[in-house]
Amino acid sequence: MQKKRIFAAALACVLGASMMACGSSGSGSKGSGKSTSSVANKDKPVVWFNRQPSNSSTGELDSNALHFNDNTYYVGFDANQGAELQGKMVADYIQKHAADLDRNHDGTIGYVLAIGDIGHNDSIARTRGVRKALGTGVKDGNDIDYKPVGTNTDGSSKDVQDGSVGGLKVRELASQEMKNSAGATWDAATAGNAIGTWSSSFGDQIDLVISNNDGMGMSMFNAWSKDNKVPTFGYDANSDAVAAIADGYGGTISQHADVQAYLTLRVLRNALDGKDVMTGIATKDDAGNVLTDDVYRYDKDNRSFYALNVAVTADNYKDFTDSTKTYEPVSNQVKSDKKKVWLDIYNSSDNFLGSTYQPLLKKYDKLLNLDVDYIGGDGQTESNITNRLGNPSQYDAFAINMVKTDNAASYTAILNQ
Ligand code: BGC
Repeated sequence: MQKKRIFAAALACVLGASMMACGSSGSGSKGSGKSTSSVANKDKPVVWFNRQPSNSSTGELDSNALHFNDNTYYVGFDANQGAELQGKMVADYIQKHAADLDRNHDGTIGYVLAIGDIGHNDSIARTRGVRKALGTGVKDGNDIDYKPVGTNTDGSSKDVQDGSVGGLKVRELASQEMKNSAGATWDAATAGNAIGTWSSSFGDQIDLVISNNDGMGMSMFNAWSKDNKVPTFGYDANSDAVAAIADGYGGTISQHADVQAYLTLRVLRNALDGKDVMTGIATKDDAGNVLTDDVYRYDKDNRSFYALNVAVTADNYKDFTDSTKTYEPVSNQVKSDKKKVWLDIYNSSDNFLGSTYQPLLKKYDKLLNLDVDYIGGDGQTESNITNRLGNPSQYDAFAINMVKTDNAASYTAILNQ
C-alpha cells in the first residue's frame, strides 16, 4: 500500500503532470486546505461510522463495503452488549420500584416503546434487548421479533407477549417506528407527537416510557412523562438526557461516543501515516495515546471497531454530565502532517450525532491534526450527501455516515470513478 503510494507520487513528479508538492515527505497538504495527494481515490482511507454497511432487512453485513480497500474500517459500538444493558437497566428499575410503579393499580406494568429505524442494526438490537429483558419478546425465526406493534393495550399483538419481571406482569402497550412524513428516522418530533396520542387514549396505563435513543426519549419526557412522573429510558447519554436524570428521567446508556469519535478519525490518521492500524489504539503512540480493551473491541474479519457501553442511572450520572468531553487516555496532541478529510453526518438534526458525536469529532480532529470538512445531510436522501462528494480528489480520506445502511455503493462508486 505504502509502496504503491510512493511509486504513484514519484511517477506523477516524473511526468510533471501535476501541481503537487513533489519531493515533500508524505502526501500531506500542510495547511493548504486542500489535499495534494497523488493516491487514487479508490485507494484512500475510508471509515464508515455509526451506520454499519449492512442489509437493512436482514442485518447481514455488507462485506464489499467493509473491505472496499486495504484501509477501510467501520467504527460503531457493540449493539448487542448495549441493548442487553438497556434491557437490564429497565428490568432493574422495575424490580427496585415495584411497590409504586403501577400508576392505575391494574396489576400490569405498561410501557410504550419508541423505535428509531426498523432497518438499523442498533435500533433492532435495542428493541430486542428491551423485549428480552422484560419477557415481552416472541421468537421470529432465530431471534426476537423487533417489529413495532402499533397499539397493543388489549394484549392481542402477535409480535409481543405479556412478560414478567420480579413477579410483576409487563405489557408493551404500544410501539412505533418514529419516522416523519418526509422519511427521516429516529425522529424526535414524531416521538413527541406519538406520546401525545398514546397518553390521551390510554395514558393512565403507561407506567414506563422506553426509547431506542435519547433524542426521542427526551422529546417524550419533555412533552409528557416529566410532568406525569413516568420514568423514561433512552440511549446515548446525551448531555441533556443525563442532566434530566435529576428530574426523573430513568436512565440511559453511554455508547462511549468519546471512544468512537476518536477511533473514527484515528484509523484514518494511521492509514494516512502508513502506520499500523492499532497505533494509539492497542499500542501507545508517540504522544502516549492508548485505549484499554475494556472500552472497545476489534473484529478483524469485518474490519470493525466497536466501543463498549456503560449504563448511566441515578447511581452514577454525575460522572457523565458532559457528553462532549474527550476520553482522557486518548487526549494527547499528535504530531503529524495536516491531512484533509471529507466527513458527513447523515442527518444534521440527529440529536446524538449533532449534540454528542460531532462536537467530539471536532475536538479530535485538532488533536489528530486533521482538517475535516463536515457535511450535514437531511436524513432522508442519500444523494443530498453524495452530491457533495463531487470532488473526492480534494481529500486524503473519507468518513462516511450513510442515510441508509444499504447504500454504501453510492459512495464507493464515486471513489471508484
Ligand atoms: C444512535 C441514535 C442515532 C443513530 C443514527 C444510533 O447509534 O444511538 O441516537 O439516531 O445512531 O444513526
